[in-house]
Amino acid sequence: MRFSTIGQLVFLLAHSSFVHCLGPSSCSAAPGAPTPALVEQFIVGLAPVMYGRVDPIIAHGKASAHVHLGFGNSNFGPFLDGDSALNASCTSTQAKADNSAYWTPRLSFQSPKNKSYIAVPATQEKVYYSSSMTTSDTIKPFPPGFQMLIGDPYKRSMPDATPLEGGGIYLGRNPDQGIPQPVQFTCPTADGSNPYAKQNPYGNAGLGFPMANCDAYSTGLRYDIYYPDCWDGESLTDYTSGRNYSSTAGTENGDQNCPKGWTHFPAMHMEVYWDINSFVASGDWNPASDAWPFQLAQGDPTGFGIHGDFLAGWDTDTLHTLISECKTCDGDGEVDQCSDTSAINSNDEMNACNVPSPVDEPIWGWLEEQPGCNKPQYGPQEAVQATCEEAGLSNPTTQHSDVPGWTYQGCYLDFVNYERLLTGASASLPNPVTPEWCAGYCSGTGTADDVQKGQTTKYTWMLLEYSFQCFCGSEAPKLLNTPSNTGVNGLEQGLCNSVCTADQTQICGGSNGGYSPASIYSLDRADPSSRKEKRMSHLHRHVHAHDGSF
Ligand SMILES: *[C@@H]1O[C@H](CO)[C@@H](O)[C@H](O)[C@H]1NC(C)=O
Ligand SMILES: *[C@@H]1O[C@H](CO)[C@@H](O)[C@H](O)[C@H]1NC(C)=O
Ligand SMILES: *[C@@H]1O[C@H](CO)[C@@H](O)[C@H](O)[C@H]1NC(C)=O
Repeated sequence: MRFSTIGQLVFLLAHSSFVHCLGPSSCSAAPGAPTPALVEQFIVGLAPVMYGRVDPIIAHGKASAHVHLGFGNSNFGPFLDGDSALNASCTSTQAKADNSAYWTPRLSFQSPKNKSYIAVPATQEKVYYSSSMTTSDTIKPFPPGFQMLIGDPYKRSMPDATPLEGGGIYLGRNPDQGIPQPVQFTCPTADGSNPYAKQNPYGNAGLGFPMANCDAYSTGLRYDIYYPDCWDGESLTDYTSGRNYSSTAGTENGDQNCPKGWTHFPAMHMEVYWDINSFVASGDWNPASDAWPFQLAQGDPTGFGIHGDFLAGWDTDTLHTLISECKTCDGDGEVDQCSDTSAINSNDEMNACNVPSPVDEPIWGWLEEQPGCNKPQYGPQEAVQATCEEAGLSNPTTQHSDVPGWTYQGCYLDFVNYERLLTGASASLPNPVTPEWCAGYCSGTGTADDVQKGQTTKYTWMLLEYSFQCFCGSEAPKLLNTPSNTGVNGLEQGLCNSVCTADQTQICGGSNGGYSPASIYSLDRADPSSRKEKRMSHLHRHVHAHDGSF
């Protein structure tokens, strides 16, 4: 309930609220002061919006070659473009005005024992908007629809690098100082040793996988993606050219500028942490005796094929204000320090904004092979894209999880005019809320533990919303048959598309910024003994006949 109330207020304020510094006077620019030319830094937290074989830049309109972890707006999918990004109902980033999308290959563990694959948990993600360099350029916001890709998924060898006097290689991005290194890893270790000592004697960042455990407390293996900050202004979508790094070459006072006539964006740096140490804890990986067992989703055991994509969906006024005014804010540098609360998504709101993969294939649990036929290619030669049968795309408007003994009634908006569709018992986190758990909780037929937490009433209706909330009721929801929600239902069908917090393979309603699209079910009246055999609930998907060709 809490969430929807907050959500509703936020819905009204989002995009209209002005971002300004809330901190002490050091945070606000003096009146009449010239517009600052540089962003110092602000950090935008990210949460996953989707895992799946989706890449709206490289594989627009079809399944992509390998699994990505995507962050950002809820229209993330094969058809995403600037317009649909701005039009999305929510975003999994910390800034409500940031309807961009960011994506990078998923990391998987390959068991040294039986060669099966399983996803590595991603634990923390953020993107830095900064310009730690000085520049005489004006920093401009990204226009919606602007795309870029950095890194080469097929690379399997050490990139060209500039040796530094005194040892190591140049790992920065100023082309005047060395060959820019836009994609790298950081591997903090418990004993402080540096697996990249030869590349970088001064820190633990480097190129390619570290081939060592990154076991520093509460960190993990980190992807570091540094996006280009200069654009020639020619094409929003031609991601292969006209994007580059700012340089000190030929400038005064060491200013780091873009070529004349180009647009200078904030320098963006995305960090994604992966908990590789958990495989040591589980006994599946012995770093002392096993070979490096982790691979990028495109079958890359070297790490040289790491890459990151970006499709801009910022409200440009807000980003402009952040660029101009957020620079003097200090603290941990997160964007909430220079924004109205109403412009910021809570962790729950970020986590509730997610959508399932539209590609109909298993991507969770132990897998024989990485999705998309991505067998490992060790290099050093460029990898070749394996082709396998093209995967179909499903129609998100019909997605729901089947629950034995219950009938799915559709997706309807809950909390319209502050009214709950079902007013019986309700449950939320930390319960492992899935449609099947909610069914057991509402009908009193779940495991003893569920029922204890639940009610003695045997409810016959249930709904799930917001990824982790379960509501029960004794009667058909009142609004189901009113013209308003009947109409809204038709309109909002596609909005029950949030995966459950407790199980990424199932659907638990949706999150629509302010309202709560709810997945609604009714208990079958059949004699329980004649019920269909209990089976694993799974995503129920209809594939468009004509989508089969993708
Ligand atoms: C934006 O969303 C509305 C309502 O869902 C829809 O009618 C419209 O076609 C969308 N526009 C774009 C550009 O996706
Ligand atoms: C492979 O090994 C893991 C444990 O390392 C195990 O959980 C999994 O079930 C095994 N897969 C197969 C196909 O045997
Ligand atoms: C980036 O600029 C450098 C010169 O500073 C040039 O050598 C390089 O080709 C450019 N890269 C792209 C992708 O345009």
